[in-house]
Amino acid sequence: MSGNILIAPSILSADFARLGEEVRAIDEAGCDWVHVDVMDGHFVPNLTFGPCVVEAIRPHTKKVIDVHLMIDPAAPYLEAFAKAGSDIITVHAEADKHLDRSLQVIRGLGKKSGVSLNPATSESVIEHVLDKLDLILVMTVNPGFGGQKFIESQCEKIARLKSMIGDRPIDLEVDGGVNTQTAALVAKAGANVLVAGSAVFGGKGDYGANISAIRDQAVAAL
Ligand code: DX5
Ligand code: ZN
Repeated sequence: MSGNILIAPSILSADFARLGEEVRAIDEAGCDWVHVDVMDGHFVPNLTFGPCVVEAIRPHTKKVIDVHLMIDPAAPYLEAFAKAGSDIITVHAEADKHLDRSLQVIRGLGKKSGVSLNPATSESVIEHVLDKLDLILVMTVNPGFGGQKFIESQCEKIARLKSMIGDRPIDLEVDGGVNTQTAALVAKAGANVLVAGSAVFGGKGDYGANISAIRDQAVAAL
């Protein structure tokens, strides 16, 4: 997937009072996916959106809505997030006890299935579900908040996952602390989808310039 870097702005850093407008703005600014961080105040120490927010933003973009569930359990909510209009649904390997079942349920709902790994979680936990996955999301911060510092040790994990994936059609996404500096590191390690919250919504310049700057640094590192 060399040269094909996708940028997924996280609406966690958007202005929630103008969410529809913000989604249209990143769409027009050239984002590839819209990343939605769902938090439950239990799996992570913060609370954000439910399925009704996915439903509310769905009419504002035709781009891929990439839903990152930081909730435990996730299984009881998969159908609601699918019906709300998600395109990709990602669960955490550390959350539900039956990862294999959740991945099958997501695909059964007609959606792409993803699994996310916290910084302390080894890639070995997904070795036996690789054929049920469309996306692997590597957390490069401890999930819960935007604007945290990138954990560089995760680059090694990204590289190992890249070789585990081999020629399977699985996207390798990175989330947390991605900016114009760290974009190069994760792209070099093998990631092809970069989530960015504060670097898109809070950085200098307009959203289009912020998205292009991250993409350019990543592509230049390949
Ligand atoms: C963290 C979320 C991230 C976060 C990224 O729990 O999953 O998507 O919003 O934000 P930045 O890019 O600001 O680190
Ligand atoms: Zn996320």
